[in-house]
Amino acid sequence: MISIEGLSFSWPDGIKAIDHITLAMAEGSSVGIVGANGAGKSTLVNHLNGYYLPQKGTISIGDIRVSKKNLDQIHRTIGLLFQNPDDQLFTARLYDDIAFGPENLGLKTSEITTLVEATLRELNLWELRNKPPAHLSQGQKRFAAFASILVMNPDVIVMDEPTADLDPKNRRKLINLVNGLRKTKITVSHDLDFVWDTCERVCIMQKGRITADGPARDILSNRALLEANSLELPLRLQR
Ligand SMILES: Nc1ncnc2c1ncn2[C@@H]1O[C@H](COP(=O)(O)OP(=O)(O)OP(=O)(O)O)[C@@H](O)[C@H]1O
Ligand SMILES: [Mg+2]
Repeated sequence: MISIEGLSFSWPDGIKAIDHITLAMAEGSSVGIVGANGAGKSTLVNHLNGYYLPQKGTISIGDIRVSKKNLDQIHRTIGLLFQNPDDQLFTARLYDDIAFGPENLGLKTSEITTLVEATLRELNLWELRNKPPAHLSQGQKRFAAFASILVMNPDVIVMDEPTADLDPKNRRKLINLVNGLRKTKITVSHDLDFVWDTCERVCIMQKGRITADGPARDILSNRALLEANSLELPLRLQR
């Protein structure tokens, strides 16, 4: 369903963040992307919704090619949770941030109200609906950004460090929520236990390349492979 072919991307300072990546992900699959700081994970996933456009190579989501002219369609198909929630929340009131997407879909006002309220309640944000997103705690911002994606019910959800800042109970809530979503899911995370709990397949990135790709539990239990990629075993496998 998602096809990345020969994708490369360099920053103006010459850093090659993506180095000829080819990767396919099946519809309904759940893929984790892991790797050390600076490996290129965010640069890669920020291409999936056209936030960055390919300098070389192509990306397709189903039949839709990621390109400037298809961005509206891409945004309706893919919801991307940015690594920094401040990049996602931009209105003066949390409620308006969550209502923004559905309003742009042209839904009826009563439908929007029902949908936004249900999403805010599901993520324990209802009491906070009148607060400016800038005044939320980090974990609350993370959930708010997630709500702004969930409310759009996209076919594909891409999450960049979704558990950063979450307390243990909310992290558990996110695991259950993600596992209950029947969608194509791509998760970038340093929380390898979260990846263990939510992904069936894992790709390791190092220096802009995919260096390993396989069943999550094979990859995540392979100490030598993880160490060769500057990673460590998930906490549950450490002793
Ligand atoms: N806006 C930018 N301008 C220039 N270089 C950038 C920019 N953003 C990222 N880079 C560089 O691109 C490379 C990949 O960065 P990226 O943010 O994709 O890594 P990452 O794997 O997501 O890391 P982390 O785990 O720290 O989030 C790094 O070398 C980084 O310094
Ligand atoms: Mg990143």
